Amino acid sequence: MKALSQLSPALRGTVRAPGDKSISHRAMIFGAMAKGITTVDGLLEGDDIMATAQAMRDFGADIEKRDDGQWHVTGCGEAGFKTPSNKIDCGNAGTGVRLIMGAAAGYGVTATYIGDASLSSRPMGRVLNPLSEMGVKAVSQEGGRLPATLSVPDGLTAIDYTPPHASAQVKSCLLLAGLNAKGTTSVTEPTLTRDHTENMLRAFGAKVESQTRSVAGRDGQTVKIAGGQKLRATHIDVPGDPSSAAFIIVAALITPGSDVVVENVMMNPTRTGLFETLIEMGGFIRMDNYRTSGGEVIADISVKHSKLTGIVVPPQRAPSMIDEYPILAVASAFAKGRTVMDGINELRVKESDRIAATEALLVANGVEVSSTETGMTVIGGAGAEVRGGGLVTTHHDHRIAMSALILGLQASNPVSIDDASMIATSFPSFFDLMDGLGAKIELGS
Ligand code: S3P
Repeated sequence: MKALSQLSPALRGTVRAPGDKSISHRAMIFGAMAKGITTVDGLLEGDDIMATAQAMRDFGADIEKRDDGQWHVTGCGEAGFKTPSNKIDCGNAGTGVRLIMGAAAGYGVTATYIGDASLSSRPMGRVLNPLSEMGVKAVSQEGGRLPATLSVPDGLTAIDYTPPHASAQVKSCLLLAGLNAKGTTSVTEPTLTRDHTENMLRAFGAKVESQTRSVAGRDGQTVKIAGGQKLRATHIDVPGDPSSAAFIIVAALITPGSDVVVENVMMNPTRTGLFETLIEMGGFIRMDNYRTSGGEVIADISVKHSKLTGIVVPPQRAPSMIDEYPILAVASAFAKGRTVMDGINELRVKESDRIAATEALLVANGVEVSSTETGMTVIGGAGAEVRGGGLVTTHHDHRIAMSALILGLQASNPVSIDDASMIATSFPSFFDLMDGLGAKIELGS
């Protein structure tokens, strides 16, 4: 299914950010591990989360949506995960597969994991290597890719691990495995990555120790979890996803006359790097009504059309905005001067090679951009014409698809994308919500 976006009038209105994808995955997985019924409000009902929910059913949890919209997860508790009778299909979701591998390994079950073309091309060695050190036997495709079959011949033993990449998925996988390992598992990260696993494990009654420390001259942390702890069901209120709000916010910033409020956005500092960056670029972005919901701080964000100026984005900020570089690159195309993004080599192994895909997106639409192995520089036209007219290849990547459509809102010629179907993995309401604000985005055949 293709889609096209074109020059749009001022965007106006108040919308609610869709549920956070990271928290939604975790609510399904932790709920499935826990004893009792976990209730979840505001779940992101995207394809990625539905794949994780199905995987949890395959391992023995009971998951259903009630008529009032609340999700109920009856966890496996003491019995633990059962050996699934089918392959575990994680669809497009790196977070899903990496966290589930860790959780399931702790129960000693054998399972084969598969995914779509994008997920099957992504490196799993980053979790399979440390899991193997803990006692997992993994048979995977070349380079640790899916399909992969994991078994646990003799149970898991805790390890102390320092991941070579800043990755919340790796940290989370090992903490979940560590929950059912012999001994205390520790993960040391040189740069803080999103801490939802630590926070939510605590909400489910586990003891998790986080110690801030300087690692390689940076503000990192060591997280420790003792094996043998049991999770107890709880209630989760899923806050709005800052990574989805990012598309609405950039759309409003680049579209003259816009005045938009995005309600209920999670403000966890491990996730808000893009907002900080856009404010430094001169964007009018104001947070109001700070409150706490489901253990996370949330706020309503007001955003108005603004004249943006390019900046050098500090590389150490990358983990707190790792999914937002494609949409930042779009904002940068409308800014004055250069926006330099470095230290973002992790983008090469996301749903697509996001440095290459973003560069191609911009080039196809007449924006000047250059890249290195670890970074990208966009030369903005300061609001001068962005030509547009390109057909963007999305490579099964939802964030590339939405970024291209947002660029088209202020390009001189319509921008089209080859496939819009995967937008539903993280932001199923994208088309309706943008339409409600006045954006001209159409789904085609
Ligand atoms: C996520 C972690 C990040 C992020 C992904 C969600 C998570 O991946 O890109 O969209 O929920 O833990 P990495 O851990 O690979 O950086």
